[in-house]
Amino acid sequence: MTQEVIAIDGPAGSGKSTVARAVADALGWTYLDTGAMYRAITVVATRRGIDLDNASELAALAESATIALTPHVSVNGESVDDDLRTHATNVGVSVVAANEGVRRALVHQQRRWAAEQPVGTVVEGRDITTVVFPDATLKVFLTATLDERARRRGEEGAESVARRDAADASRAASPLRQADDAVVVDTTGRSVEEVVKEIIECLTSRTLN
Ligand code: DC
Repeated sequence: MTQEVIAIDGPAGSGKSTVARAVADALGWTYLDTGAMYRAITVVATRRGIDLDNASELAALAESATIALTPHVSVNGESVDDDLRTHATNVGVSVVAANEGVRRALVHQQRRWAAEQPVGTVVEGRDITTVVFPDATLKVFLTATLDERARRRGEEGAESVARRDAADASRAASPLRQADDAVVVDTTGRSVEEVVKEIIECLTSRTLN
């Protein structure tokens, strides 16, 4: 594993992607959006006509998938950018993310990817502080009110955001939960700059102590 990982978890629309990318930029580190990986598997499974309730077929797909995230999201070279945030993907991804075999395959890729980064990396998702990098340098749990999160997710709507959160927090496999040693940051009504500053101050005080 790379020496430095900032792990960020939180519900949909809490600001994880924006904040994680900005923290990574400020530190000169890399950034990993693990939600995009679950979405990418959902898109390919849907395109192949795989029944999302077919756990073993879905897991086999994830095991054979090499996911590239930058600059475009692709699976084994097939671009999935266009379908990553459609309504069908927002609905299907909850089923895909509850599949233990899929999670095992993607967590393996996430750890391997982080180990290859030259300096440090900022990784965001739902199980990053609890399962993927329990020994991260800094763990952050981002929150915001449902109103604000739904506003940030725009077209997806409050109902879908709330449904996805409930599914993510109640599933058996690596549910979204706040790690005991995570710093909790409420992003409601705060600017990205403020939140980034707070996280970097936490990192500095952790690494100095
Ligand atoms: O962050 P996002 O909304 O793009 O994530 C899409 C879905 O993927 C989310 O509803 C839950 C799932 N997910 C997960 O289970 N574990 C992660 N580490 C990241 C995302």
